[in-house]
Amino acid sequence: MAAVKTVSTTPFSGQKPGTSGLRKKVKVFAQPHYLENFVQAVFDSIGDVAGKTLVLGGDGRYHNRTAIQTILKMAAANGFARVMVGRGGILSTPAASAVIRKYKTFGGIILSASHNPGGPLEDFGIKYNIPAGGPAPEAITEAIHARTEVIGAYRIVEAADVDLDTLGTRSLGGMEVQVFDPVADYAELMESLFDFAAIRAAFASGLRMKFDAMHAVTGPYATEILERRLGAPAGTVMNGVPLEDFGHGHPDPNLVHAHDLVEALTGEGAPDFGAASDGDGDRNMILGRDFYVTPSDSLAVLAANATLCPGYRNGLKGIARSMPTSAAPDRVAAKLGIPAWETPTGWKFFGTLLDAGLATFCGEESFGTGSDHVREKDGLWAVLAWLNVLAVRKQSVADIVTAHWTEYGRNVYSRHDYEGIDAAAAEGLMEHLRGLPLKGRKLGAYTVAFNDDFAYTDPVDGSVSKKQGIRVVFEDGSRIVFRLSGTGTEGATLRVYIERFEPDPTRHHIDPQTALADLIAIARDLAEIEARTGRQEPTVIT
Ligand code: G6P
Ligand code: ZN
Repeated sequence: MAAVKTVSTTPFSGQKPGTSGLRKKVKVFAQPHYLENFVQAVFDSIGDVAGKTLVLGGDGRYHNRTAIQTILKMAAANGFARVMVGRGGILSTPAASAVIRKYKTFGGIILSASHNPGGPLEDFGIKYNIPAGGPAPEAITEAIHARTEVIGAYRIVEAADVDLDTLGTRSLGGMEVQVFDPVADYAELMESLFDFAAIRAAFASGLRMKFDAMHAVTGPYATEILERRLGAPAGTVMNGVPLEDFGHGHPDPNLVHAHDLVEALTGEGAPDFGAASDGDGDRNMILGRDFYVTPSDSLAVLAANATLCPGYRNGLKGIARSMPTSAAPDRVAAKLGIPAWETPTGWKFFGTLLDAGLATFCGEESFGTGSDHVREKDGLWAVLAWLNVLAVRKQSVADIVTAHWTEYGRNVYSRHDYEGIDAAAAEGLMEHLRGLPLKGRKLGAYTVAFNDDFAYTDPVDGSVSKKQGIRVVFEDGSRIVFRLSGTGTEGATLRVYIERFEPDPTRHHIDPQTALADLIAIARDLAEIEARTGRQEPTVIT
């Protein structure tokens, strides 16, 4: 038995987990006692850990291995019986959720700053997921934060570092450390949900795809599942080796940051299907040849085709989307006669609906799609769902989406981001919008049906969330939504979401920036964007 040491410490301010855990610069996490204080606060806040099993792993970014060694020694000192750690310290966010659920562990710790850049000067993060597999609810994160403010000591064993690179079980101060294959359980779960035989046949008969792992965690998952189990040719997975700094990249799968993939999918001779995932594997972007599928349309199309996938053969219980996500999935729900839920931004709001069996698929405009198979969004799940649909329907991505629009109408949609604007100016802009009496007013060709600041009452636990984004909804169902990002790190980011319903198939091919031009202009005027932020153009358009 290694000696348990109790180390005196003093609180650090600001150890307040956000929506996806505590995210700070590596330099902050690397300070003596900083990580230790937070981990002890977690262990002190989640109930009796004695004899329990914990899942542990991360997205492989800089500081991942160092943090894992510390957490293992602290778990041993705090009485855990066992920690299951992904080989090499690797575990994607959805795989962690799957493993926690499969082995019914006492939750898990995930080390990630999601799509934020990694490296000595970049970001690191840590979050605790509960035994149901999802991120800790606010009651727990608040308890953790409160604990960090009064912490006086933490416990750690004095022992040598554990070998993280060889599978097998070893002992650390009387605790078992089980180094497991981070891909196997997840791949098996995917195999139970999707028609691997049909996808294998599609690849064998020439379906061509590119998956951009962006040098982040999904590399090993995608290589095993797409190239080994499904027989896609070697090289299908691009940037498949996880690197501590993601190859200097920004591992966020969108049209700007996944530019290598966008280029690969452009022009004649390009592959049929392209997809990318983010740092920790929970986001996804879907492309066809010369064709971008918005996350909102992706959710709608997958929901409409769900029964083609064996895991969802019996249909969906409901579809949930975040408020700024387009209403395209609602149209599918209406046709299927199942409920459509509209929640605030943030995956955590889907948890209660999934647990209660009120929804099966959920998704967000912020490149998140998933189902009740885990309690996180799941990038590769979305990719495999698309592959399943492509393999069965034997049509192109563009044909499937345009046929969907013809059947349901198109919710033409775009998001304009103004990044790094002055925080006070951003608050002022929102305040200005909040006060506007707009109901009944005519703006260009549109008449305002109502405007409000979105509030949500969870239908399962009754909890209320206010001020979740300003909506201006027009009589024809068109919509402008204004929100400040909750995940940005520098200044404020204003997001403007613009949507118009187009029933006429002869107009479905029009570029959204053109089709939405009048609403975009209305949004800029209404929010006085240029006057208040000094910006003439958005930083990112998706
Ligand atoms: C994270 C959450 C998502 C959420 C997104 C919103 O990625 O996991 O559930 O949709 O943040 O980001 P934003 O920057 O718009 O607040
Ligand atoms: Zn992520």
